[in-house]
Amino acid sequence: MCYRHIDTAAAYFNEREVGEGIRRAGIARKDVFIETKIWITDYGYDATLHAFEKSVGKLGVDQLDLLLLHQPLGSAFDRTLDAYRALEKLLADGKVRAIGVSNFMPNHLTRLLAETSIVPAVNQIEVHPYFQQTTLQRMHAEHRILTQAWSPMGGITSYGGGEKSTFDDPTLSQIAQQHGKSTAQVMLRWHRQEGRSAIPKSTKAERIAENFDVFDFEFSSEQIAAIDALDTGVRSGPEPDSITLDNYGIKIPEA
Ligand SMILES: NC(=O)c1ccc[n+]([C@@H]2O[C@H](COP(=O)([O-])OP(=O)(O)OC[C@H]3O[C@@H](n4cnc5c(N)ncnc54)[C@H](OP(=O)(O)O)[C@@H]3O)[C@@H](O)[C@H]2O)c1
Repeated sequence: MCYRHIDTAAAYFNEREVGEGIRRAGIARKDVFIETKIWITDYGYDATLHAFEKSVGKLGVDQLDLLLLHQPLGSAFDRTLDAYRALEKLLADGKVRAIGVSNFMPNHLTRLLAETSIVPAVNQIEVHPYFQQTTLQRMHAEHRILTQAWSPMGGITSYGGGEKSTFDDPTLSQIAQQHGKSTAQVMLRWHRQEGRSAIPKSTKAERIAENFDVFDFEFSSEQIAAIDALDTGVRSGPEPDSITLDNYGIKIPEA
C-alpha cells in the first residue's frame, strides 16, 4: 500500500504531526505530495506569505506541492484576492509547486479568474454521490481546473448521526455487490472514472488499505449513470459564504 498524497490544512492543527508522520515513514520528500491550506484569518498579501512560513515550519519542509486558500471569504473578498496574489508570488518564487482554492463557488471563481493572473490548479470542494455540484464541475472543466473531492465517500453525510449515509445507500450497495467491492470502493472508483482527485480519510489501517484497492475494476456507463442519479443537490458542509471572520476567526499559531 502506498498513499503518497497527504491533504492537510493550517486549520486542522495537525501539520506538525503530518510532517512527523512523513519523516517517520522514511520516504523521500520527492515521493510524497504535500498539500495544505491557508485559513481565513491569515488572508491578505503579507499575512498569507507569513502563513506559508508557519505551515512549512510545522511540516518541516522547504517546499509545498500544492497550497490552497481554504475558503473564499465572501464578506472580505478583496482580502481573499490579496491572499491568492501571495500564492502567485510563492509559486513564482518556487516555494510551492502549484496553487489553488477550496470551496470556491462559481461567483468566487469568476472574480478570481478576472482579477488574478494564474488559473488555480485545483478547487477542492464537497463532492460525493449525494452532492455533486455538476455546474461548478463543468466550470472547472472549461478552465482546466482539477476538481478535488472532499468528503469523497460522503463521510460528512453521516457525521453527527446524519439520517442518510452514503455507505448504506442501496444503489451503491447493489453496484458494490456486482463487483465484489464495498460501497466505499465504489464511490472512490466513481471519482477516478469521472476524472476527479479524491482525498478519502480513515483512522483504521484496514479501511485505508481497502480505500486504496480501487484500481482493478471498472463501471459500465449504466452504473456511472446510476451513481450520478443519486445527487440530491443538498450540501452537507457549511454554505461557503456563511464562513466569516466573526464565526470562524480561529487564530493559527506560529510554527
Ligand atoms: N476543504 C474542506 O473544506 C474540507 C472539508 C472536509 C474535509 N476535507 C478533507 O477531505 C478529507 C476526507 O473527508 P471526510 O473525512 O469528511 O470524508 P470521507 O473521507 O468521505 O469519509 C470519512 C468517514 O468515512 C469512514 N470511512 C472511511 N473509509 C471507510 C470504509 N472503507 N468503510 C466505511 N467507512 C469508512 C471514516 O471512519 P473511520 O475513520 O472510522 O474509518 C470517516 O467517518 C478530510 O480528511 C480532509 O482532508 C476538506
